[in-house]
Amino acid sequence: MVVRRGFEPKILGFLCNWCCYAGADLAGVSRYQYPPNIRVIRVMCSGRVDPAFILRAFSNGTDGVFVGGCWLGECHYITEGNYDALSMMHLCKKLLEQIGVNPERLRLEWVSASEGIRFAEVITDFTRKVKSSGPLGVGEGIDGNELKFKLEAVTKLIPYIKLVERERLRVRLNTEEEYEKFFSSDEVNRLFNELIVDKLAISQIMLLLRERPLSTGEISEILDLNPSEVSRYLKSSTREGLIRYDESQKRFAPA
Ligand code: FES
Repeated sequence: MVVRRGFEPKILGFLCNWCCYAGADLAGVSRYQYPPNIRVIRVMCSGRVDPAFILRAFSNGTDGVFVGGCWLGECHYITEGNYDALSMMHLCKKLLEQIGVNPERLRLEWVSASEGIRFAEVITDFTRKVKSSGPLGVGEGIDGNELKFKLEAVTKLIPYIKLVERERLRVRLNTEEEYEKFFSSDEVNRLFNELIVDKLAISQIMLLLRERPLSTGEISEILDLNPSEVSRYLKSSTREGLIRYDESQKRFAPA
């Protein structure tokens, strides 16, 4: 593991009120030691953590995001939000990977109210891993503005992504291993590529065109995409009425 001296990661933690937050409280009153890098937001259930919260945290320069919930089967709500949180975390990690962000910067763990020691251990381990990954963007070799741009493009897609998750990717399995297997399956990868990757590229194109009209070649150069792929995205977006071709400038612009 690379040790980065002088770098102290900023970590944001979303902790479920009923388990993990109480576990953190117990760690505090029991004086268990863990790094002070985490700032905590208390939520009523891990299922309440919207992907937009996670993306906003990263957009604001957070180096790692932690979500802590009740163990599977112990969520305090009949909707069992921690299963939804598990699905959403897998999907968020795929999205981060897709835009070049190390998915290990996002972590979901279960910590009960009586597990103060576990809370301290998990946070110590996560902090060490985020520290070894380096500052967000720098560790990935992505320029800060490019990273913000990509995060914004994903954020704009969140309502659509939630719909895809609910309609096509939501399953109720029993164990974390089963979820792991499901989200790394060929079927899910195919759906992810078909339903999300293309939309993400189009979202990036729309953001670029908001700044100034661009040609196919210029877009493919900026986004480092194949011109034929860009041309396909432009055609479908024109058909959907999202963009138009400006004859006078010989470039595409928002409709
Ligand atoms: Fe804790 Fe749902 S109440 S994860």
